[in-house]
Amino acid sequence: MTDVLFEITKDQLETGLRGVPVGYCTTSTVDPMKGLFYAGKPVAELSSWRPEEVIYLIMFGKEGSPKEIDQFFAEMGKRSTLKPETVKAIEKLPREGHPMKLFSSALLIAGMLEITGDYKEDCLNLIAKAPYLVALVINHHAGWGSTPAPHPELGYMENFAAMVKVPNADRKKLTEAFRLFNILHYDHGGGNLSTFVGKAVASGLEDMYGSMAAAMCALEGPRHGRANQDCLEFLRAVVKEVGESASAADVEKLIVDRLAGNKLVFGFGHAVLRIEDPRAKVVYDFLGKNYSSHPLVKIALHLRTAGTKVLSENPKISDPHPNIDAISGTLLVVSGFDYPEYFTVLFGLSRIIGIARQIVYERLEARGGKGTPIIRPKYLYSGPKV
Ligand code: MLT
Repeated sequence: MTDVLFEITKDQLETGLRGVPVGYCTTSTVDPMKGLFYAGKPVAELSSWRPEEVIYLIMFGKEGSPKEIDQFFAEMGKRSTLKPETVKAIEKLPREGHPMKLFSSALLIAGMLEITGDYKEDCLNLIAKAPYLVALVINHHAGWGSTPAPHPELGYMENFAAMVKVPNADRKKLTEAFRLFNILHYDHGGGNLSTFVGKAVASGLEDMYGSMAAAMCALEGPRHGRANQDCLEFLRAVVKEVGESASAADVEKLIVDRLAGNKLVFGFGHAVLRIEDPRAKVVYDFLGKNYSSHPLVKIALHLRTAGTKVLSENPKISDPHPNIDAISGTLLVVSGFDYPEYFTVLFGLSRIIGIARQIVYERLEARGGKGTPIIRPKYLYSGPKV
């Protein structure tokens, strides 16, 4: 007798597979009422860890000792560079269009020139090379010139911050913002769109780089990873409309008016969560502590409370709380990275960790090592009579 986990009714068709179980995820879970856990640990607790410690936790499913982490990252450091041909090819890519297009293209180029064809090796290589790849993409797209060679001994995100040639930035503040942003976005369960797409493409035995390029195309959409860019633009429009010294009541009125005019309010709600996104709470707390007088932060904090209050009054809204995208861009801006078009690329740099590890699970470990079969769901035919 097999266990029935879920029964599908017709009204659940064409609803984005919401809540339909399709497999196992060993790296992270998202509880609607508790939020995100990496390998059993709440993300708020992990937000003060070093990226190396959290990446190790996700890769091995357990906390590493300082020695294990050092050894693992010494090994990763050896994998962190790119062939000169790869760098040259990426620096020849067009600079028009959204930088996520460039990032997906860069992954395909790396897939031609850096591939081993072994999912596990390519997972480690890709995670090790990702900071250099992303720094190259941003520097090239922004016209900030050539990218310095990686120095992985600096630390995973310290190395990245040193390679991105952001003009006039306070390096300490920037590195801390990149660290926090990076850790909060590593993984979000097995069913978020980019992760699902990456695993689906890999299920046809496409290699790690091609699967990741597909995942990054999925992440580019404004309903997914590009929401962080749109949220920052929304916050700026709100500041412009209500003024920098607006009160919570002014912001509340703006939200009520927008909803009455059928206009969107960005940054609220999540497909799974039914509480305030704990990742957002980490960022709100960080900004409240370190940047409370910044006008963007002040209005973002008003939006957090006023938005939740107004949206809670609407019984049709299942999650009236802010999600991570509502505030992650503000973290980057106030820390000196006021380049919203690269926010999703930074999301991708981070999400590569969870996606790559989940692809390794599905290809090499699932079903006693046999791996999962090619994804092939059923669609009910509703066209002209056969
Ligand atoms: C997220 O990080 O919130 C996502 O990738 C969206 C999701 O979980 O579906």
